[in-house]
Amino acid sequence: MDKNTVFKISYGLFVLTVRLGEKDNGCITNTLQQVTSDPNRVSITVNKANLTHDMIAYTKSFTASIISQDADFSLFEHFGFQSGRDTDKFKGYTDCARAENGELYITKGTNAYISGKVCQEIDLGTHTMFIADVTDMKILSDIPSATYDYYHKNIKPKPQKVEKTVWRCKICGYIYEGEELPEDFICPLCKHPASDFEKVVPDKEEDAVPVGKTADGKTIWRCTVCGYEYEGEELPEDFVCPLCGVPAEQFEKVE
Ligand SMILES: Cc1cc2nc3c(=O)[nH]c(=O)nc-3n(C[C@H](O)[C@H](O)[C@H](O)COP(=O)(O)O)c2cc1C
Repeated sequence: MDKNTVFKISYGLFVLTVRLGEKDNGCITNTLQQVTSDPNRVSITVNKANLTHDMIAYTKSFTASIISQDADFSLFEHFGFQSGRDTDKFKGYTDCARAENGELYITKGTNAYISGKVCQEIDLGTHTMFIADVTDMKILSDIPSATYDYYHKNIKPKPQKVEKTVWRCKICGYIYEGEELPEDFICPLCKHPASDFEKVVPDKEEDAVPVGKTADGKTIWRCTVCGYEYEGEELPEDFVCPLCGVPAEQFEKVE
């Protein structure tokens, strides 16, 4: 059985937002679909580890902004690689507006939004599927929607060369270092399981550049939390990882 077959399924991408009291939050999902047209209902499947999950379970309400092809990777970093449990994703975030139900929708890198009121929940173990009556919908632009495949081919940064065997998350690019990946490993960034990782073996000896250096000789500093690599002789003291948000102290010089 070829596990990569799931990547042939066509999905859209969404910023799923919710408001509980004064707290707004949202996360990236690829699991929204229309399930019936009369009544007009959609389903969305959310990992129980996500704060967005708990907020929807409580409020029974959500808004899904449909991501378009002009979205850049920062939208995915912002909503998909950090949790609202650790940070306020909407503090200072201006590319959004309030929908009729009071929830925020995203106005940049999106082409529409759909608001829903949950009418049924299905417990799927790691995830909950929320089925909702559509309460509001609006088109924001004519730019085509980004599919999951489009995200992988055009939005996600190209993987960097590796010097030793690592396992790379096919969803978000997180790197796990080690010969073997534990079967029960869960990606700390996007929460996808071990089956979504691919083994990456080092490039051939003759192509290899020295460990810790880029092909053009720059020093590499790696984020110990998410694997993001900064290139430059010195890492600025006030540098903040653009992927997972940790400070410069969490970086190590690759040697
Ligand atoms: C491309 C991409 C697709 C994702 N798809 C889903 C998904 O379908 N369901 C889900 O629960 N999380 C998905 N995630 C992961 C969440 O967006 C991520 O865990 C987020 O940090 C959760 O934030 P929260 O704790 O504030 O809710 C995806 C992430 C990325 C980058």
